[in-house]
Amino acid sequence: MRFGHFDDQRKEYVITTPKTPYPWLNYLGNEQFFGLVSHQGGGYCFYRDARLRRLTRYRYNNVPTDSGGRYFYLNDGGDTWTPTFMPMKKELDFYECRHGLGYTQITGSRGGLRAEVLFFVPLGHTAEVHRVKLKNESGAKKSLKLFSFLEFCLWNAHDDATNFQRNFSTGEVEVEGSTIYHKTEYRERRDHYAFYHVNAPVSGFDTDRESFIGLYNGFGDPDVPCEGKSKNTVASGWSPIASHGLEVDLEPGEEKTFVFVLGYVENPREEKWERPGVINKRRARDLIGRFERTEQVSAALADLAAHWERLLSNYSIESKDEKLNRMVNIWNPYQCMVTFNMSRSASLFESGIGRGMGFRDSNQDLLGFVHLVPERARERIIDIASTQFADGSAYHQYQPLTKRGNNDVGSGFNDDPLWLILGVAAYIKETGDYGILSELVPFDNDPKNVATLFDHLKRSFDHVSNNLGPHGLPLIGRADWNDCLNLNCFSETPDESFQTTGNRTGRTAESVFIAGMFVHIGPEYAKIAEYRGLSDEAARARGEIEKMEKAVLEHGWDGEWFLRAYDFFGNKVGSKSCKEGESQILIEPQGYCVMAGIGVRTGEALKALDSVKERLDTRYGIVLNNPPYREYHVELGEISSYPPGYKENAGIFCHNNPWVMIAETVVGRGERAFEYYKKIAPAYLEDISEIHRTEPYVYSQMIAGKDAARHGEAKNSWLTGTAAWNFVAISQHLLGVRPEWDGLCVQPCIGKDVPEFTITRKCRGATYRIHVRSSGGKGVAKLTVDGQPITGHVVPYARAGSVVEIECEAS
Ligand code: GLC
Ligand code: GLC
Repeated sequence: MRFGHFDDQRKEYVITTPKTPYPWLNYLGNEQFFGLVSHQGGGYCFYRDARLRRLTRYRYNNVPTDSGGRYFYLNDGGDTWTPTFMPMKKELDFYECRHGLGYTQITGSRGGLRAEVLFFVPLGHTAEVHRVKLKNESGAKKSLKLFSFLEFCLWNAHDDATNFQRNFSTGEVEVEGSTIYHKTEYRERRDHYAFYHVNAPVSGFDTDRESFIGLYNGFGDPDVPCEGKSKNTVASGWSPIASHGLEVDLEPGEEKTFVFVLGYVENPREEKWERPGVINKRRARDLIGRFERTEQVSAALADLAAHWERLLSNYSIESKDEKLNRMVNIWNPYQCMVTFNMSRSASLFESGIGRGMGFRDSNQDLLGFVHLVPERARERIIDIASTQFADGSAYHQYQPLTKRGNNDVGSGFNDDPLWLILGVAAYIKETGDYGILSELVPFDNDPKNVATLFDHLKRSFDHVSNNLGPHGLPLIGRADWNDCLNLNCFSETPDESFQTTGNRTGRTAESVFIAGMFVHIGPEYAKIAEYRGLSDEAARARGEIEKMEKAVLEHGWDGEWFLRAYDFFGNKVGSKSCKEGESQILIEPQGYCVMAGIGVRTGEALKALDSVKERLDTRYGIVLNNPPYREYHVELGEISSYPPGYKENAGIFCHNNPWVMIAETVVGRGERAFEYYKKIAPAYLEDISEIHRTEPYVYSQMIAGKDAARHGEAKNSWLTGTAAWNFVAISQHLLGVRPEWDGLCVQPCIGKDVPEFTITRKCRGATYRIHVRSSGGKGVAKLTVDGQPITGHVVPYARAGSVVEIECEAS
């Protein structure tokens, strides 16, 4: 069942009923100021850091769900309602939510009054703009009241939700004309405040939540809007809010527009005060002045649209499959940019107070946005590499505000270092900026201990070969990509971390997955070394890789598929010899080892992929492992803590499905790759939204697997490495256009289902127009470049500014 439709022309998803199977979210903001907004106006905003600088309050896991946001209440002759449906839930004669690129517009109408609310963050500003249009569609004159409403968060979102003995006494505001200033803690160490303004005279205001809502009421039946009169309250402690009261007269057919600005301002210490106790409002007034008139708002919206147009034009497809087009052209890259901005911090499933930036996550996210914002990818790489240690290991997470490694989690996730090589390689292939390799980058953020980025990569590579176990396979450490495979932890006490409570220091538990990564990513390192003129180093690296490949085939092969690991005791993980109720096959090494080319010549690769099809594939995607773990295994860790079918225990973990898709292209089975692609790509799931439940325009981290009661139900939408990897799979491997070291590789492997398509790819300043006829999915392509046939699949990079026409026959 559908709850809306795609509007590809406007690059929007249009939700046509408020009663979606779950709140469907969008993001506002591109630089420093960000907002989350659901299709019913729920959500919150923050400046740079969702934990430390949160402007508005949101209560996770609330009842009803998704209550709290920026709301507009209308009192139309005693009938009080909200055009976003929530929180008043009065039936609407018309409802529509348009989630677009960086903006959301929600329209509701009732009793002949139409209200359209538009939310966005203008480029270059630290503010949200809320444009409210009211139109009288009835035949009679209306005199109505409009009340804005939002609840301030007392900045630190964690304290705000826990430290009530203090924060019920700290709230402070100032009100001046149509602007409400939130200045809690400004008197002491904070040099920032927030404000909420409207570009019209108000008839009243409120800043005290209890007075506005009523102590025993909720957002759905607040006193002030229902009574139709602001109380002009000034908050003192408790919970400061901002509400403007406006009286609006509308003739039949008349429309009026109001512009609200929710802004964030920082003042230099010396300029904090206008006079004792009164904040300096100069910067706020400047910001307000930018959006006083509706034409200014329209211009800012046009800027935003142009910004996205520019970003998305770097890779686009025209084909007859409209679902494919909208994933590749709009929604998948959009989600990649959101993961760039948010990492794993703030969504409806990530509370904004939990994780920082992940070392492995950020490197993989980069694969999805490097072609969109290469300059920012460069900066991100340096930030990430600065949290590496001198021995090549790395902090598993770091804080975005301080950019420092997080000591609580520490290091010891032995896949982490390799992802840096992959990220840097992707960046150089995209940009040709080999200069980045000579940048001096600190270890552990210590400016006294620096080395070139190239040296960082060498240490990443060596960290693997320096840490091999008894079978010559990489030691896993606390975990590898699968955070929940904890082979050295043995936790028996509730509340301990499965990852960091490691109490086994033995050097026995090995990961076949990291071995696959080493064989896949290691050659990039060798290539980079060669580029630096270090041919001995490149040869040494290739030697190590070859040894690893042998070790995998000798000790990492189980007969029908790749083993997953050896545990602390040297027992096999993910083997046909595993007992009843234990997993016999896990997905990660199947995809990754084949991507690396292991066993392609000798037949293991095909067998492994056929085993995936037979044992792991379901109608909703490929599960992580099978059978699921039925009991807790202290020697395996968190993976066996989840009930069967969820998360890492046999859920469809969408991040690793594209590895199998790419692997299928490696063995020349493009049709099967595309079949897997369509199973989890959200646009193809629109018709089963009632089962899938999360947004049909973005990927979720996990879909419940076949062993779960709720097979097909997704969770954790938006912030997941799934976005980047699926974009890599479809754009670079199935559609087959990817930057390589010496040129743009064109090697489609998708089969007859997409018989003809055109890709426009901008890379290093040149534009490539690639017209493909695809008759089979074997990954063999004949290329003609500007009319001349070439051998091989790589089109040499063209001069910046040039347009290259490529014809491709793919079979
Ligand atoms: C989460 C983590 C990611 C990890 C994955 C599998 O998505 O953010 O780092 O690889 O889970 O455990
Ligand atoms: C990953 C997993 C999650 C686990 C966490 C531990 O994010 O998806 O299930 O709890 O890692 O760090």
